[in-house]
Amino acid sequence: MTWLITGGAGYIGAHVVRAMTEAGERAVVYDDLSTGIAGRVPDGVPLVVGSVLDGELLARTFAEHGVTGIVHLAGKKRVGESVERPLHYYRENVEGLRVLLEAAVAGGVAHVVFSSSASVYGMPATEGGLVTEDTPCLPMSPYGETKLAGEWLVRATGRAHGLSTASLRYFNVAGAAAPEFADTGVFNLVPMVFEKLTEGAAPRVFGDDYPTPDGTCVRDYIHVVDIAEAHVATARRLASAAPGTDLTLNIGRGEGVSVREMTDLINEVTGHDTPAEVTARRPGDPARVVASADRIAHELGWSAKHDVRDMITSAWAGWVRLHPEADRGRARA
Ligand code: WQD
Repeated sequence: MTWLITGGAGYIGAHVVRAMTEAGERAVVYDDLSTGIAGRVPDGVPLVVGSVLDGELLARTFAEHGVTGIVHLAGKKRVGESVERPLHYYRENVEGLRVLLEAAVAGGVAHVVFSSSASVYGMPATEGGLVTEDTPCLPMSPYGETKLAGEWLVRATGRAHGLSTASLRYFNVAGAAAPEFADTGVFNLVPMVFEKLTEGAAPRVFGDDYPTPDGTCVRDYIHVVDIAEAHVATARRLASAAPGTDLTLNIGRGEGVSVREMTDLINEVTGHDTPAEVTARRPGDPARVVASADRIAHELGWSAKHDVRDMITSAWAGWVRLHPEADRGRARA
C-alpha cells in the first residue's frame, strides 16, 4: 500500500504522515504549500508540490509512486473566510476533490479517507446530549457546506466505482506531537488565548449567556496525535474492506469542555494569571457541540488517549518555539 497524503505538509496532515509512516505505511505527500511547510515532511517521504486542481500532475503522481490509497486533508478551513469567499472555498474544497477523485478512479486508487469536520452539523439540536453521525447535518457556513458536499462526493464515487471510503468528522483539534509540528495559525481558541496572554492582554470569551452550565460555549477538544492515530486505524480498515464500503465517523472524545474551563486551564498550564474578559457572542457559534465517539470505537477500536491538559501543554511548547517572547515575558512577570 502507498498512501498519497494531500495537505501532508499542513498542521494536521504532518501529524497524519508521521503516524502513518511510524505505523509502517508508505506515504507520499502532495501539498501546494499555500499554508503547508515543506520542512514538516520527514526525510524519506517524497513531497510533490502541486494543487489538487491539477489532474495531470495527480495522474502522474499516482502512476510514478504506485498510489493505492489517498488520505485527503488538503483544503481551506477558515469558517469566516469561507463566508467572504464562497467561490474560492467551493473551488478548492469541492472542485479540488472532484478532480482528485476523477484522477483516483482513472488511476485505479482503491481507498479514500476524507478529512471532514464537525462543522457539517451546524447547530446540532441535541439539547445537552452528544452529536452522533446520524444527527442531521445542517452546516451554517460555506466551509461546512463544502465538507458535507465532499462527503457526498466521496461516498457516491466509492459506490459507483468500487472504492472503499471514509469521512472523518474532526471536532476541535488542538495540541502537537512536538513543538515543530504545532499549528502556526491563530484562528482557534487555544492559539487565540496564547496570543492574548503573550501580549499581556486578557483572553476573550465570546459570550457567557449561552444555555450551558457556566454560560460559555462547550466543545469537544481532541489532540492532533489522537486524530492522526484515527487515520491510521481508518486506513488499515479500508485496506481490507469490501469495495463500496463507506464509513462516516466522528473523531472526538465525547467530553465537553467550556470556553471558561479552557481559558482557566490555559492560564494554569502556561503559568499565567490573567482572567478572561467576556465580550459579545461571535455570530454563528453553537452553544454546545460534543461528539459521540461510540461509532469509531465500535468500528475501529479507536479512542482518544490524550486529555485537554496534554493538548494545551504541547501546543504551548510549539507556541513558545515560534514566539520566544511568550516565555520571556512570563519569566519577568
Ligand atoms: C471554540 C470556542 C468560540 C476564540 C471551528 C470550526 C470547526 C473547526 C474548528 C476547522 C467557540 C470560543 C474562540 C476566542 C472564544 N474548523 N472562542 N474566544 O468555532 O468551535 O470550530 O474551528 O478546521 O469546523 O467550526 O472553534 O476554536 O474558533 O472556537 O471565546 O478568542 O471558543 O466562540 O465557542 P469552533 P474555535
